Amino acid sequence: MLGVKNLHKSFGSNQVLKGIDFEINKGEVIAIIGSSGSGKTTLLRCMAFLEQANDGIFIFDDLSKDIRSISKKEIKEIRMKMGFVFQNFNLFRNMTALQNVMEGLTVARKMPAEKARQKSLEMLKKVGMLDRANYYPDQLSGGQQQRVAIARALATDPEVILFDEPTSALDPELTGEVLEVMVKLAREGTTMVVVTHEMEFARNVADKVIFMENGVVVEEGSAEEVLSDPKQEATRRFLKRILRKEEEE
Ligand SMILES: Nc1ncnc2c1ncn2[C@@H]1O[C@H](COP(=O)(O)OP(=O)(O)OP(=O)(O)O)[C@@H](O)[C@H]1O
Ligand SMILES: [Mg+2]
Repeated sequence: MLGVKNLHKSFGSNQVLKGIDFEINKGEVIAIIGSSGSGKTTLLRCMAFLEQANDGIFIFDDLSKDIRSISKKEIKEIRMKMGFVFQNFNLFRNMTALQNVMEGLTVARKMPAEKARQKSLEMLKKVGMLDRANYYPDQLSGGQQQRVAIARALATDPEVILFDEPTSALDPELTGEVLEVMVKLAREGTTMVVVTHEMEFARNVADKVIFMENGVVVEEGSAEEVLSDPKQEATRRFLKRILRKEEEE
């Protein structure tokens, strides 16, 4: 459904992605884990064309070609079929929750306002935010803002949603409400790529876990394989460090 082969990305002389192979199928949830600076965000950004990769094959449904040869028009079409949820919510401050969710429908997709409104309210309901539809982002908690951002991503019926550490900017007591929504989506069969440090979530929800280090995929497999019985020393080291951090909290 969505994938890359031998993806390379450098910033100047800094080689950040060194030949990544990645593939997600319809209905799957894939968790990407790895230390800070390993290239997780860059991978997501390259797959979303927010960053121009240097080399590699890009795959989306029937399309499979050199990532550098994909036209602006193709990029636009592909991006219309993707949803994004970032660390810092990225809601428009001057718009209500409802307006934020409607925006992607009325502007990019030219959906009539009333239809967009109904669809948006439905999505806000899904993430438990219907009663806050007319609130502005500043009047919402971080967890609530992130749930609005998820509703916004869902509203366009994307084929896949890319999440980049959706809970890492949240106070610990607010991560639960966001993860709960994500677990629900996963159970409903939503195709999701999730960069996360939430090992519990990865273990319970991910069909596959990918561990990245220094711009390469070091290990991948089922959540059970990677998180409970890692083969690589680097994976073991990373998990030990994360576990220690969780205990400290
Ligand atoms: N726009 C940019 N310009 C220059 N270098 C960048 C840019 N974005 C990322 N990098 C570099 O790429 C490397 C990987 O960064 P990236 O954000 O992909 O890591 P990450 O795995 O998402 O880390 P974290 O867990 O901290 O979010 C880092 O060395 C970073 O400095
Ligand atoms: Mg990142």
